[in-house]
Amino acid sequence: MTDILRDEAAPIVILTGAGISRESGLHTFRDPDGIWAKYDISEVATPEAFIANPDLVQSFYNDRRKILHDTAVIPNAAHLALARLEREWPGDVLLVTQNIDDLHSRAGSKNLIHMHGELLKIRCHHCEAISPWQNDLGATDTCPSCDKTGGLRPHVVWFGEMPLEMERIYQALENCGLFISIGTSGNVYPAAGFVEIAHHHAQAETIEINLEPSDGASLFDHAIYGPATQTVPAFVDQLLGSAANR
Ligand code: APR
Repeated sequence: MTDILRDEAAPIVILTGAGISRESGLHTFRDPDGIWAKYDISEVATPEAFIANPDLVQSFYNDRRKILHDTAVIPNAAHLALARLEREWPGDVLLVTQNIDDLHSRAGSKNLIHMHGELLKIRCHHCEAISPWQNDLGATDTCPSCDKTGGLRPHVVWFGEMPLEMERIYQALENCGLFISIGTSGNVYPAAGFVEIAHHHAQAETIEINLEPSDGASLFDHAIYGPATQTVPAFVDQLLGSAANR
């Protein structure tokens, strides 16, 4: 596997999905016990749903925010290994996550893009300010920035909305030497298309690390299958070992 590195300082782009947080106690979306087995996307995760039934949408995200405060929900060995990779790899490492939890930043990752937003932030419809938010959110809450009431929503990207910081992500993909996809089913675009950009535009090596082959598995050059807490630390050790031995 170490031969996938052509250059000891190759820029790396990592994409993570819900699978990396599964062993921290957070549910994925499309596994049999996943969030979309219990909820209908069109009722809780679209701009139209927020207009039609704001209380239902807020309560869906309030429940998920509460779970993040559970003391048992902490970064696992996979989150920690990616933070270590960023610290120790001789080249750039950009971590792009589809997850709205805060486990990557708690693990210490700094060069991190939350392309689908963040559960612990809110956005104000009146002043557009994005503010940290830890508790339940509702129609009577007031914006910490403009003091207006009734215009707050979770700072998350709903289906039909544009993911965040795409320009920076595409630029990194077009210049990377290695693209690593971890714990994502490859169902949701634009993230599902990142592997092809890295492959075609950057001639990067690509690897999928997942519990099982994802829907986009055939697009990758390499694959490692198993639980993220085992596979990711082992792969990071291998990468860092190969860089140190050059
Ligand atoms: N280790 C590694 N992979 C795992 C683990 C684990 N312990 N547990 C589950 N997985 C894998 C599953 O096999 C699956 O392929 O993680 C993947 C999770 O896929 P999804 O549930 O579809 O989650 P994700 O790909 O992150 O979803 C993308 O869809 O609903 C939206 O906005 C939401 O960001 C989310 C996006």
